[in-house]
Amino acid sequence: MNVDLLIYNIGQLILPRFCSTPLKGDQLGQLLIKENAAFAVKDGLISWLGNSDEIHNFIAIKKIDAKKKVVSPGLVDPHTHLVYGGSREQELALKQAGVPYLEILANGGGILSTVEATRNTPEGKLIEKARKHLETMISFGVTTLEAKSGYGLDRDTELKQLRVVKKLNELYPISIVSTFLGPHAIPLTYRGKEERFLQKMTSLLDDINTEKLAEYVDIFCETGVFTIEQSHKFLLEAKRKGFGLKIHADEIDPLGGAELAANLGATSADHLVAISDEGIKRLSDTNTVAVLLPGTTFYLGKDQYAPARKMIEAGAAVALATDFNPGSCVTENMQLIMSLAALKLKMSPEEIWNAVTINSAWAIGQEAESGVLDVGRKADFVIWNIPNYQYLPYHFGVNHAASVYCGGKLIWNESRILSD
Ligand code: NIG
Ligand code: FE
Repeated sequence: MNVDLLIYNIGQLILPRFCSTPLKGDQLGQLLIKENAAFAVKDGLISWLGNSDEIHNFIAIKKIDAKKKVVSPGLVDPHTHLVYGGSREQELALKQAGVPYLEILANGGGILSTVEATRNTPEGKLIEKARKHLETMISFGVTTLEAKSGYGLDRDTELKQLRVVKKLNELYPISIVSTFLGPHAIPLTYRGKEERFLQKMTSLLDDINTEKLAEYVDIFCETGVFTIEQSHKFLLEAKRKGFGLKIHADEIDPLGGAELAANLGATSADHLVAISDEGIKRLSDTNTVAVLLPGTTFYLGKDQYAPARKMIEAGAAVALATDFNPGSCVTENMQLIMSLAALKLKMSPEEIWNAVTINSAWAIGQEAESGVLDVGRKADFVIWNIPNYQYLPYHFGVNHAASVYCGGKLIWNESRILSD
């Protein structure tokens, strides 16, 4: 049989399972590991998957000896704030002095300082900057991700951010799911006029639809930002207009964001550090994915992490993401998130691999395209320099990716560093 690519001698092939719903409870801890595996790629899709001893039937344009390494689906990062101007290193000192995240924001810093920088950065420069972050993500094994707007808070800048995401999608073979996060903070000029600001952001939905600039909407539901009632109103209107729903929920205070997400049939509820028992129960009754962001808790210097074990045991579908952004989690490294999930969320290696592949694909509606390696699926995969799948979360803070493939094509290779 003629194929484009044959990859063989795989020590462990990580095979997350595709079910009709995101993986929940015990299912999250079940991961199929195929030893001495091989697979073939034709026209960007996996055309055969089996044992390394069976490859003599194939004539391949290119053959890769995986040398007993571990191979997994490309990682899926379902929550990033990829596109923004400037940076906020000056906030580190404030954080060290113990100034709370929401206080920095209330004083016009935090998100609002990035808004200022993003408004002042031309589209071309935003693209250039986002490309660097995106390429770093890819180098850590990501082949599908989500990217939010939310650093414009006005019509032109929000649309500018979303157009940057669209452009990046054209420039790279990887898939980027776009989310409109207009209600991310209240601009200083709208203090006391929150309803008017929300109306203004809601009025952008038609333009975003017409230009096909986003599949999802999101809102920061938090004390001092948007209330549960305001979040409900905005999300309901977006749902009516055909958008998928996401919500920054119960990050600092338990306002009931998880319950709202479950009630509205949101695709995901994200953060959930302060989720209530009722919120956990409501999420478990639905397919709304709980996207946990342990990098953010770590970076904000907090001790209390999202109650992942409680959520998994209750039957909620859990996924993991970086939350890459210039304020509360400045890292593109999904592998670091996997280590934090092991150390701080007490998740097992099997749960972690499922949470960064198939469940994170579910969290952005990409379950039919990403997160699983199987015949007929897009050949997005990573070859890892690790002896077994348990090793990755254990050895933290470095890059274990040897090479990253998207649609059967090499898009990043560690040796690039040496040959450049
Ligand atoms: O997910 N919580 C709100 N938004 C981002 C932080 C954005 C920022 O600080 O710039 C988050 O953590
Ligand atoms: Fe976020």
